[in-house]
Amino acid sequence: MASYIVRSELPVDHPHIFEVNVQAFGEDEEARLIDTLRESDAFDPALSIVADHNDTIIGHILFQPVTIDSTNGNVPALALALLSVHPEYQGQGIGSALVEEGLRECRRLGNRICIVVGHPNYYPLFGFMSAREQGISVQFPCPDESLMALSLVPGALDGVGGMVRYHPALSSIMEN
Ligand SMILES: CC(C)(COP(=O)(O)OP(=O)(O)OC[C@H]1O[C@@H](n2cnc3c(N)ncnc32)[C@H](O)[C@@H]1OP(=O)(O)O)[C@@H](O)C(=O)NCCC(=O)NCCS
Repeated sequence: MASYIVRSELPVDHPHIFEVNVQAFGEDEEARLIDTLRESDAFDPALSIVADHNDTIIGHILFQPVTIDSTNGNVPALALALLSVHPEYQGQGIGSALVEEGLRECRRLGNRICIVVGHPNYYPLFGFMSAREQGISVQFPCPDESLMALSLVPGALDGVGGMVRYHPALSSIMEN
């Protein structure tokens, strides 16, 4: 089992985050998306979180700010946008640790809601629940069970429904 620390990204990590995403996804589309999101006003480096094994980046998770167009107005939220673990280090719990530590950091920084489009057997392990049931939707086709939401503080999702507005680069990758 590799020992590692989980921490927010530093500028020096940018090329290594690119590389771990290429290795995990087997292509560079996701890695390039992260570079694009990093240029956006909404990007928060505190929410781009790495698993650092002896100064080598072996995993990465990115939460990107989004808004939910709710009937009560725009509600700020986060999207768990990308999760990657280098293939040599997969299956050791590093992905789960990034999700858990990442959500803890999101909470600590005062965020209230997290949305994910992902595997319906995986994200419920961290408390995510169906988002469709409460009227949350996305601009791209996505199976109902893959769209999930988590209240980072009790009651944060009460009365919140509507379309999630993603950065266009992020919604475009999720359409494919
Ligand atoms: C998905 C990924 C980050 C998981 O990292 P990991 O460190 O191997 O995950 P863990 O060791 O914490 O996995 C714990 C369990 O959850 C499962 N799991 C993890 N991520 C999953 C996902 N996105 N979907 C479904 N199942 C997943 C694993 O199969 C494992 O199950 P098991 O214990 O029954 O074998 C890694 O496999 C990866 O980088 N994959 C390629 C990129 C990708 O698909 N990212 C997710 C979409 S953005």
